Amino acid sequence: MEALVVEGGVRLSGEVEISGAKNAVLPIMAASLLTDKECVIHNVPDLRDVRTMVKLLEILGVEVSWNDKTLRIKAGRIKEPLAPYDLVKTMRASVLVLGPLLAREGYAKVSLPGGCAIGERPIDLHIKGLKALSASVDIEEGYVIAKADRMKGATFAFDKVTVTGTENIVMASVMAEGETVLENVAQEPEVWDLITVLKKMGALIEKVEPNSLRIMGVKSLSGFEHKVMPDRIEAATFLITGAMCSEKITIKGAKKEHLVAVLSKLYECGIKITSQENALIVDGADEILPADVETNPYPGFPTDVQAQYMAMMSIAKGTSVITENIFEKRFTHAAELRRMGANIIVDANKAIVRGVKELKGAPVMASDLRASASLVIAALAAKGKSKISRIYHLDRGYENFDGKLKSLGAKIWRIKE
Ligand code: UD1
Repeated sequence: MEALVVEGGVRLSGEVEISGAKNAVLPIMAASLLTDKECVIHNVPDLRDVRTMVKLLEILGVEVSWNDKTLRIKAGRIKEPLAPYDLVKTMRASVLVLGPLLAREGYAKVSLPGGCAIGERPIDLHIKGLKALSASVDIEEGYVIAKADRMKGATFAFDKVTVTGTENIVMASVMAEGETVLENVAQEPEVWDLITVLKKMGALIEKVEPNSLRIMGVKSLSGFEHKVMPDRIEAATFLITGAMCSEKITIKGAKKEHLVAVLSKLYECGIKITSQENALIVDGADEILPADVETNPYPGFPTDVQAQYMAMMSIAKGTSVITENIFEKRFTHAAELRRMGANIIVDANKAIVRGVKELKGAPVMASDLRASASLVIAALAAKGKSKISRIYHLDRGYENFDGKLKSLGAKIWRIKE
């Protein structure tokens, strides 16, 4: 296994380029199962999760070629609409093939993902949505088995906002018979990137205010060519890194309209951020002010930035309260940040963070993707050397994170453990 070693306290400066969004490219790759025509996806980040999705598509019998940042996918024929446990357990987003496989083949067998480090993460709403579209769904030996010759349009309201749940049901309904109305859908920009792709394929989808979609089923869909949106979570991660440990960083490709909640919070913390066409520039802060935050579905503050924000609050000038409303166990980084000298008390879904003067380097363990990023940022800001173990989590969702940090002057390197 690989670990990262970080020599903290170096002031970073320079430019980084934001990669394509992990949470957009994965559903878009799944959408290519809806057609036998060629689909071309540009700005594809080289991530472990993308590689896993390529592997899954190949197991399904799909032709995939990946050249530089472009994926060409042709699902001429599906061999067997089965997503095996071995793959699904390494990447929960594999469940995104459920809707498209069912729509295309009338049958899908997809392993249940199971729990993960940040909570239980059930897929009950995906299943309810498919049932509302007249599919029969059973759970057998850890697999979801869904059948429907052709799904029938229906009105369905999600009890809770779910990102991949919305994406799965939208993909299931684009070829259903008649009209589907989905209420309480997720508003994340990645969902809209997927909807843009589905429309390019010929799907008839319209937004009905305030958070509903109306979908008119079509008989078949065509291929598409699409450039994946920039990763707003990666951009937010670099904004926080810049605030904590830089002179000045220019974050190229970051879209400020996707980052409104994050930017407002950072302004409240006294961070200076300016925008240029196609870039955000963050100045390192001499003093970071504490500010409470609550995670919420988009356009709220993203749960995927909570861990990085906690690292920043650890050295803020005062106390802040971080409330996690999306995932019940998403505070595993708190104990690791404490090992670096942070003063954090976790009480149910709240973390009370009392800012300390400085963090100190320590050996720590990454437990999930965003927690890993939080620990790397904390290590960059800390005095002395840190070792972050189990960084395979980081490689799942950040393209060349350590390489990009190195280009900003960070002293960071990989070791084998
Ligand atoms: C997606 C993102 C992930 C992000 C999360 C929340 C991808 C590939 N992943 O995950 O990075 O952290 O959104 O913004 O896009 N829930 C249910 N039943 C369901 C589905 C969800 O109870 O059937 C609950 C979850 O346990 C959680 C909440 O709903 O408490 C939101 O989860 P959801 O939006 O579905 O997260 P993911 O789509 O898995």
